[in-house]
Amino acid sequence: MLDSLHNMKRTHTCSELTAKDVGKEVILMGWVHRRRDHGGVIFVDLRDREGVTQVVFNPEFNKSVHEKAGVIRNEFVLATRGTVVPRPEGMINPNLKTGEIDVMASELRILNMSRTPPFVLEDDTQVSENIRLQYRYLDMRRPALRKNLILRHRTAAAIRSYLNDQGFLDIETPFLTRSTPEGARDYLVPSRVNPGQFYALPQSPQIFKQLLMLAGFDKYYQIVRCFRDEDLRADRQPEFTQIDMEMSFVTEDEVMAVTERMMAAVFRKVLDIEIERPFQRLTYEEATGRFGLDKPDLRFGLELKDVSDIVANGEFKSFADVVRAGGLVKAINVKGCVDLSRKEIDDLAALVAIYKAKGLAWIKVRPDGWQSPIVKFFDDGQKEALRQRLEIAPGDLVFFVADQSRVVNEALGHLRSHLAEKLGLINQDERYEFVWVTEFPLVEYDEHEKRYVAMHHPFTAPVEEHMDLLTQEPLAVRSRAYDLVLNGAEVGGGSIRNHQRVVQEKVFEALNIDRGTYEKKFGFLLEALDFGAPPHGGIALGFDRLVMLIARQSSIRDVIAFPKTQKATCPLTEAPCDVSAAQLQELSLRVKTLASFTTSQK
Ligand code: AMO
Ligand code: AMP
Repeated sequence: MLDSLHNMKRTHTCSELTAKDVGKEVILMGWVHRRRDHGGVIFVDLRDREGVTQVVFNPEFNKSVHEKAGVIRNEFVLATRGTVVPRPEGMINPNLKTGEIDVMASELRILNMSRTPPFVLEDDTQVSENIRLQYRYLDMRRPALRKNLILRHRTAAAIRSYLNDQGFLDIETPFLTRSTPEGARDYLVPSRVNPGQFYALPQSPQIFKQLLMLAGFDKYYQIVRCFRDEDLRADRQPEFTQIDMEMSFVTEDEVMAVTERMMAAVFRKVLDIEIERPFQRLTYEEATGRFGLDKPDLRFGLELKDVSDIVANGEFKSFADVVRAGGLVKAINVKGCVDLSRKEIDDLAALVAIYKAKGLAWIKVRPDGWQSPIVKFFDDGQKEALRQRLEIAPGDLVFFVADQSRVVNEALGHLRSHLAEKLGLINQDERYEFVWVTEFPLVEYDEHEKRYVAMHHPFTAPVEEHMDLLTQEPLAVRSRAYDLVLNGAEVGGGSIRNHQRVVQEKVFEALNIDRGTYEKKFGFLLEALDFGAPPHGGIALGFDRLVMLIARQSSIRDVIAFPKTQKATCPLTEAPCDVSAAQLQELSLRVKTLASFTTSQK
């Protein structure tokens, strides 16, 4: 028979009691985190959301309560009344907030029992993530995960408080809507009352927040769920949360300044850290040129150096040919890594190959000379020029990639990040390096789709001086977009938008979207722009990513209560799943997977 809570009310949480409370009678409630039987005396670490308190069941103090405590097992739910007593000399635990005291139990109620959990509920538990997600409610009893979610709450609270104070209005936007073009695939929802028609879950509230500016709301924010059906990675989820903001009558600088002040407020409140402002800014060209990627991690050096001019006329054909064909040769100098093994270098070559590099040339700088498969191709002048450009010294290991600039930058950019990790160049605990990346190109060429696509989204404004290039030379047009990067992760992106219909139409045309198509998909937005649209712009920050970085985690799944697996499934609820024939019929749908579809067509 289980006990009830009748006439019993909790007096303290499990992290509150200290030496100051000695002598008090208290009532605690929580879970049995650990139970030890020491020669007749039973010690229980009682745990709740806030922490742990040691409860002692001593037969000399209370025989019947001690006897009852004999059946207690891990994760049982208890209520206990007792007296706060000081811990004996030598038993004080300075690492625990409640480490100076024990609660000597005089009453025990067993509110519920528990099966033995399928894994140990400690931070260093060794179990597959799938099992953890299947029993997520147990997983979240582990202190680390609990801390992450509390930190997430505090971060959201700090953001809301800052934006509310600045006059931003929190306004909700629909989830059942039509497709927003953020570049991912949509999640579709069939409409029962409109057979054969579908809503799309929003990839972001982009169009709605622009319409709110048209409506005159001036400053909007929402901490809002977004849905994108894309390939998942450690920092991507199919449903994720954005801090979404939009402002009227602003330029880039104002959006960036508000964002910086908001970040400062969050870091102050949540971590008690003062971050430096203004944040650094790099143009897209500088960021990719010096660091290879448009989300540069500025916590370490290892910059990319262009050596095309030095090797252009050299004997090594792989390099000279690339330069002649309009490509680049770039290098990074990894200080003090001359002793990397052949196998390690081969692994790095395999890494750059993922980014389509055709090879990874290297030079090991030994005290008695350069060792390298390509050194024979360089004359003394070239070697001296390389030595100066790359600041080469004995002990260094230099890597080269030759290709079209995009391949070179991407390959060396990822090599740079990988090496920093592998060589421990990043001091994990200390630094938060924010940087704005600005002056993105408006469009890029999509090899797959064989057309220009918006680099940000199609509502982003081009810089005014490039307006005339829109139709003739779209690739040369710079946009008014900006990304916020923190420690090498893209935590946010935004832009100043097209608030004039003619400009928005020109951008659609530059993206090879014909009038018929854009009128059909975005006619309502174009029409809205006709009714006095104010200049406006905004940003959206990836809330999960931000919390992940603040919590120093390497996966956003560790800061989300119920995340999906890499295969976009939920092992706990077993979503997605089949639905009944009746449900399908109501929706006027019949399921025929493509595989069976093609077979039946044969
Ligand atoms: P964007 O597409 O850049 O911009 O998204 C903004 C930020 O959201 C985060 N993010 C994600 N986080 C987790 N999982 C995902 N699948 C995922 N996708 C994106 C990133 C990203 O920087 N409407 C525009 C914003 C604007 O222009 O104001 C937008 O959605 O941190
Ligand atoms: P090869 O003469 O083709 O055998 O190449 C000699 C070295 O140069 C090898 O280590 C290759 O990995 C490297 N290499 C060849 N092509 C490239 C390239 N495009 N970029 C960088 N390194 C290359």
